[in-house]
Amino acid sequence: MHIFVHWNKSDAPKVLQYTCSANRQLLNIEGRKMASVPQEESNAAGTTAGRRSFVLALFALSGAAVAVLLSVPLVRFTIFPLREKETDTTWSDVGPIQELSSITAPVSKTITFEHRDAWETASHQTAVYVLPPKAGRVSVLSPVCPHLGCAVRWVSEHNEFLCPCHGGSFTATGERIAGPPPRSMDSLETKVEDGILKVRYQYFRQMIPQKEVLA
Ligand code: FES
Repeated sequence: MHIFVHWNKSDAPKVLQYTCSANRQLLNIEGRKMASVPQEESNAAGTTAGRRSFVLALFALSGAAVAVLLSVPLVRFTIFPLREKETDTTWSDVGPIQELSSITAPVSKTITFEHRDAWETASHQTAVYVLPPKAGRVSVLSPVCPHLGCAVRWVSEHNEFLCPCHGGSFTATGERIAGPPPRSMDSLETKVEDGILKVRYQYFRQMIPQKEVLA
C-alpha cells in the first residue's frame, strides 16, 4: 500500500490518498476510487520487494557460512585434549622378554613414560609389576591402587600385593582379596618388539568397580 501525505507548514500533515494493493486502485481518503494504478507500477513494486528479499536471503546465507567457517578453529581448539587423549600412545621399555619370561614371582621394574596433559608433555618414572608368564604370556600390572591411588607393594612373605594406605590386599596375579579397593589391580597393555617387553602406561579412574582409562 502507498500513502500520499499532504504537508502544510501551518497545518498538521494529512493523508490525502492511498493505493489499494488488492485491486491496484488509487483511492482518496474517503475510500472513493480516483484512478487505477498502472500494471507496470504494481509489477515494479513487486519486483523491488522480491529483489530486496533475495538480497536479504543472500546476506543471511553469507552470514551463516562465515559463522560456520569461524567456528571450525574454535571447535578444534576446544576438543584438542579429547582427540589427543585418544591418540596418546607412548610405549615404554620394561626389559628383555627372555629374562622376564623366566621369573617365578612378581618383579618390580622401573619404566620411563611420557604423559601428555592437555598441551604439555612430561617425562615420568614409575614402577610396574611384571607377573610370571601364563601360557607363555607375560603380563604387567599398574602399581596404583584402584581405591585412592596409593602405591601397592609386592610383599613376598605374604605372597600378596598390599596397599599401605587402607589395607587393601590382592593375590599374586592382582585379584582383589580384601579392603576398600573396588576392583582388582589394573593390568597394562604390553607388546614385544625386538626382544624387548614394552608397556603402555596409563592411569585409570579410582573408586569405581570397572577399569576406565583416564589418560
Ligand atoms: S588407597 Fe589402597 S586401600 Fe586405600
